[in-house]
Amino acid sequence: MMSKRRFLKYSLLGTPIMSLISSASPVTEDDIHSSNRPVVVSTWKHGLLANDAAWGILSKGGRAIDAVEAGVRVPEADPDNHTVGYGGYPDRDGKVTLDACIMDENQNCGSVAFLQGIKHPISVARKVMDDTPHVMLVGEGALKFALQKGFKQENLLTPKAEAAWRSWLKKAEYDPVINIENHDTIGMLALDQKGNLSGACTTSGAAFKMHGRVGDSPLIGAGLYVDNEVGAATATGMGELMIKTVGCHLVVELMRQGYDPEEACRQAVERIAKKLGDYKNFQVGFLALNRKGNYGAYCIQPGFNFAAKNKSTHQMIDSKSKL
Ligand code: GLY
Repeated sequence: MMSKRRFLKYSLLGTPIMSLISSASPVTEDDIHSSNRPVVVSTWKHGLLANDAAWGILSKGGRAIDAVEAGVRVPEADPDNHTVGYGGYPDRDGKVTLDACIMDENQNCGSVAFLQGIKHPISVARKVMDDTPHVMLVGEGALKFALQKGFKQENLLTPKAEAAWRSWLKKAEYDPVINIENHDTIGMLALDQKGNLSGACTTSGAAFKMHGRVGDSPLIGAGLYVDNEVGAATATGMGELMIKTVGCHLVVELMRQGYDPEEACRQAVERIAKKLGDYKNFQVGFLALNRKGNYGAYCIQPGFNFAAKNKSTHQMIDSKSKL
């Protein structure tokens, strides 16, 4: 017989009570959580339009992995976004080098790093995942693979990004403080109608970085991690801090221990603060989504926000911060 608590939980979801009484099937945890599905969250304001693109797939019952790929392609193609894809600020040598990774509900993942001349590194990462036995391709090898797969090589350095680089060259001070302002990597997490999680992360990395520098965004565990039994996490900010702490894997493991997404992100930020003394000069933001469809974020500096979309909401949310 159904307990009173279970009965109330179910009736609160709006299911007609008579149909419930007449039904013999028990209420499962999955039934309860499915009311939160689908849902998509992504870092920063560019996440609003990206979430719209992801929602186009999720709302029709599509897979989370297809939704996150389609979602982050939006800022990748935007020439006015200087931290992701086309229009991204170049490195100190004037080269736009891109990093991205993607991960699905079955622990499949693909990644590219130090990729030049391809507007949609996330889709190359998807091809690495789907069409090769490997997880990661970098530099020339990643480009060769992309061209073999039919991607078009093009100049990604826009006149605006080139002007910013030429202005930086006047002093050429190497001070890679990123992400205190309202921009950076896009990391996106989605839970689809079937209850499967996926994530994607893509960036042009730190502006005017050393040639060859790769941050956290293409590194599974650092810039993105998905475990379908638990949840998913992505990160934005100074990639070196996420690499040193394998930040997103840490957030997912904290959720496995029972912490909700925001608290898991907060504890990961505390770990960074404890282990890496100079954290006050940098920004790090974590964003997490659990398998129940609950989400949350936490960061070091105030200013990080994220976009969330489900059946009842489409909004920007300010993350809580340590400072
Ligand atoms: N989070 C982006 C980077 O550090 O490259």
